Amino acid sequence: MCGIVGILGTKPVAIDIVDALRRLEYRGYDSAGIATVENGLLDRRRAEGKLRNLETRLMSEPLKGHVGIGHTRWATHGRPTEVNAHPHMTDKVSVVHNGIIENYRDLKEDLTAKGHIFQTETDTEVVVHLITDEMRQGRKPVEATQRALGMLRGAFALAIIFAGEDNLMIGARQGSPLAIGHGQGEMYLGSDAIALAPFTDTITYLEEGDWCVMTRTSVQIFDRDNRAVERPSIKSVASSLLVDKGNYRHFMLKEIHEQPEVISHTLGNYIDMAAGCVKFPSMGIDLAGVTRVTISACGTAYYAGVVAKYWIEKYARVPVEIDIASEFRYREVPLAPGGLSVFVSQSGETADTLEALRYCKRNGQIIAAVVNVRTSTIAREANAVLPTLAGPEIGVASTKAFTSQLSVLACLAIAIGRARGTIDAAKEQELVKALTELPRHVATMLHDESFYEGLAHEISKARDVLYLGRGVNYPIAMEGALKLKEISYIHAEGYAAGELKHGPIALIDENVPVIVVAPEDDLFDKTVSNMQEVAARGGQIVLISDAPKEKAGCRLLAHIKMPKAHPFTNPLLYAVPVQLLAYHTAVFMGTDVDQPRNLAKSVTVE
Ligand code: F6R
Repeated sequence: MCGIVGILGTKPVAIDIVDALRRLEYRGYDSAGIATVENGLLDRRRAEGKLRNLETRLMSEPLKGHVGIGHTRWATHGRPTEVNAHPHMTDKVSVVHNGIIENYRDLKEDLTAKGHIFQTETDTEVVVHLITDEMRQGRKPVEATQRALGMLRGAFALAIIFAGEDNLMIGARQGSPLAIGHGQGEMYLGSDAIALAPFTDTITYLEEGDWCVMTRTSVQIFDRDNRAVERPSIKSVASSLLVDKGNYRHFMLKEIHEQPEVISHTLGNYIDMAAGCVKFPSMGIDLAGVTRVTISACGTAYYAGVVAKYWIEKYARVPVEIDIASEFRYREVPLAPGGLSVFVSQSGETADTLEALRYCKRNGQIIAAVVNVRTSTIAREANAVLPTLAGPEIGVASTKAFTSQLSVLACLAIAIGRARGTIDAAKEQELVKALTELPRHVATMLHDESFYEGLAHEISKARDVLYLGRGVNYPIAMEGALKLKEISYIHAEGYAAGELKHGPIALIDENVPVIVVAPEDDLFDKTVSNMQEVAARGGQIVLISDAPKEKAGCRLLAHIKMPKAHPFTNPLLYAVPVQLLAYHTAVFMGTDVDQPRNLAKSVTVE
């Protein structure tokens, strides 16, 4: 989940490495560091916290080497201190690492017995000492690294440089992504193509188990059995995806506001607006023959999957098994061959989602991936890719990726329903029409946010907040709670409204805001009864609904008036107010909205 970069350049590389790391900060921002080779010697600068701290450090103590590696960290092993910050190094070798070396304890014990002295609490430091150990036995850097790689278990992407080697860098990939960038007399390594976009658009993705030996003008790639292999180079479109905040205060706010356009763009890929029907790619999947669907994902993407479960079961009449990926992959779920498995991921790199995918693949499932990053590992390993066209999402809290995932999944539900004959052409038209009206409804939610600023003031006083929803809107309650807790640090939980009285109601008093996601659909009256139960205990209710506030039948702290839309599309529409409420609460509380503490955008560790 960290970001790594390497540059074999023709001038001092530290500034370019910082530039690349800035685009990787979404992967972690606990600390940052750079090492270069200067006059044959390794030297490094590291700083705790955000990249700007490292930049300040480099201003007073520059690094001048023409070959260098850089790292932005999301701490796994060891506190986020400067000592634990990458690059790690000895006098011979310096390494940056993304992933987890699972057997590091055993390796560390062996190396310590041989006299190696460890300075950090990290797993990564064993890589440095392993290579150093091999070099001390007289082996050259490439052979020493090859032998060390053979001893590592776990997940890693590595970039490695060596003292005395001004024209050599080694990269390795197992379980964590790594891209090679080919420049004009320069060569690059990066966790993704976006990091390298200012330098080159010619990219080679290393495959699982690959490692590579690079100079400024050459790259040799080897597979896990150390056989020389060819991997294709592609033209990356990442440079066109470079983004800034525009006039918005935060990326998150910009991304919330992009939703009408992004939803419309994504829907355009899956529906024929004029004909009023879905135009689903064939995917090599016989949708008419689908009798069971499995969905797995993490976090916000998982909640998109839960909404899809309601949709697919209701409209396509197919049972859907769904679980969070970190549970699914270990549950030994029995799967009849030929089933459809759907994996939802913005980054396409989430380790648990990827492993759940591989489990399903091994068990004969057809794999469909709903991903935002089309070059990602999950996309590459799927049988069929269903892209969300959200563009790069920079804010760590997912917003536009979520609604574009829902857009794709809504079309998938219709497509399966049509193929199986559980909905007819008229129903398809009705649902497609509802989807095409959605961007307009979402846009109306974004005209005036002053109301949320006032409400945020109230919510910010709370220690706990409950979110309630029913049916297909229950996942939106969970998503609302996740958004609030991750960026404002207020404890929040999402519950199925009917479940309230089975425990959570004990929490209710006049200090607990209860956010009720309740469109006026056929379940509205049931949710109103649950609101009465909250009101009777003094809870402060915020009702998000298209129903007039009088229908609540109790005193409200606030009513977020929603446009009237088709019940099918309500989960997409009601996602917007819960995003805005979380955003404005976090802004009011002064947290780091785009980079909340302890989180990272891409979770490539288990
Ligand atoms: C929350 C959030 C996370 C991600 C989760 C999965 O706002 O962004 O919960 O949804 O880490 O990430 P992806 O979609 O990249 O697999």
